Amino acid sequence: MPKDSLSITDNRTGRTYELPIQDGAIRAADLRQIKAGADDFGLLSYDPAFMNTASCRSAITYIDGDRGILRYRGYPIDQLAEHSTFLETAYLLLHGELPSAQALDDWEYGVTHHTIIHENIKKFIDGFHYDAHPMGVFVSAVAGLSTFYPEAKRIEDETSRKNQIFRLIAKTPTLAAFAYRHRVGMPYAYPDNDLSYTGNFLNMMFKATEVKYAPHPVLERAIDVLFILHADHEQNCSTSAMRGVGSSHADPYSAMAAAAAALYGPLHGGANEQVLRMLREIGSLANIPAYIQRVKQGEVKLMGFGHRIYKNYDPRAKIIKLTADQVFDVTGKNPLIDIALELERIALQDDYFVSRKLYPNVDFYSGIIYEAMRFPVDMFPVLFAIGRTPGWLAQWQEMLLDKEQKIARPRQVYTGSPVRDYVPIEKRT
Ligand code: CMC
Repeated sequence: MPKDSLSITDNRTGRTYELPIQDGAIRAADLRQIKAGADDFGLLSYDPAFMNTASCRSAITYIDGDRGILRYRGYPIDQLAEHSTFLETAYLLLHGELPSAQALDDWEYGVTHHTIIHENIKKFIDGFHYDAHPMGVFVSAVAGLSTFYPEAKRIEDETSRKNQIFRLIAKTPTLAAFAYRHRVGMPYAYPDNDLSYTGNFLNMMFKATEVKYAPHPVLERAIDVLFILHADHEQNCSTSAMRGVGSSHADPYSAMAAAAAALYGPLHGGANEQVLRMLREIGSLANIPAYIQRVKQGEVKLMGFGHRIYKNYDPRAKIIKLTADQVFDVTGKNPLIDIALELERIALQDDYFVSRKLYPNVDFYSGIIYEAMRFPVDMFPVLFAIGRTPGWLAQWQEMLLDKEQKIARPRQVYTGSPVRDYVPIEKRT
């Protein structure tokens, strides 16, 4: 009968240890009993960039990167993208189950009635330079919200947590749209509670002189689908930041500002912005082979390609390609799509990409859709952040309720100088 355990022999001492295996993992802390001598601290596992370390148990999102599978609470992403709405998916992520009709009504009502931000936040946004990157404004404004809701510090209080969750999901589109309007010098457009979550977001972004903004239903749905696709992705860089900062019991606004800051980087949610800049730089189909050559020589990266977990086609990229067609029927085709499709075709036949299992990820096509819908390029990471907000919050809440979790505190392998005496400045060489 095979045993769920791992036998390890320490060749320094000849001793053998048996470590239990649970859910395909050993506990790193079990390694500590493996010591070379009495004053040895015990064996550590060294894992830069957390390539093979599970930091939590989670019931929220399942990814099988080799098979290109993504599920939220067990539901395949393609089914949610086809049948669900962003707010229903947000409920699912946070509560673990799809809502009843009544629960969904209450949830939507709760989110809708928290969309307005305090007028002083508006003044705060006004203070940014005219060309401030909207993601910088967004990160700061999310952090700033914590000063308006000091009760958010009571993270152990379920009612308070619920209120902050409503506020964050409701207010992120408002902050995002206000950051954009500031950038382009347009007056802020206030939330319209008659509209859907994404319809209202489009209203706050693009409303001009019309008395009532009417979102195009296809574009409203397209943004909804894109938000569903971005809603969670288990322990990625920004979610780890959310959990890490949240583990110190900071309020959720401060933790989410940290998560959004992590998302901003070009290797993470900032990649969608870089993809657009790359496609513009390539400029025409004729320039693609030369660009691929530069990628293979290590001069540049093919932005929107590759993923730490997916070693197969990113299932979100497949759905986004379909959404692109629907959007282009309304907006007209974004000519960059032809460059993107050809780039993908060539890359997927090239041994450099095939051997490294580099496929298009979620960011490869999303920017082309956003641009066709008139979102400026620097808003792309902000759109990602709105979509990811329920995922961050679900992961934050799961972390707080997990009795095994404590303040996050990795170990290090010290490589510096051994102890030495202080040298007075006149004696230093
Ligand atoms: N273009 C060219 N080569 C690449 C790329 C790329 N986009 N991505 C990875 N590689 C190469 C990399 O140079 C390495 O080659 P070698 O073995 O010869 O050194 C090999 O593929 C393995 O890559 P890695 O850097 O070890 O992989 P990683 O898991 O550390 O990085 C990644 C994952 C997403 C940061 C990386 O693929 C990348 O930088 N991609 C471009 C940025 C991007 O599109 N990011 C969005 C990710 S999806 C949205 C999200 O969730 O954030």
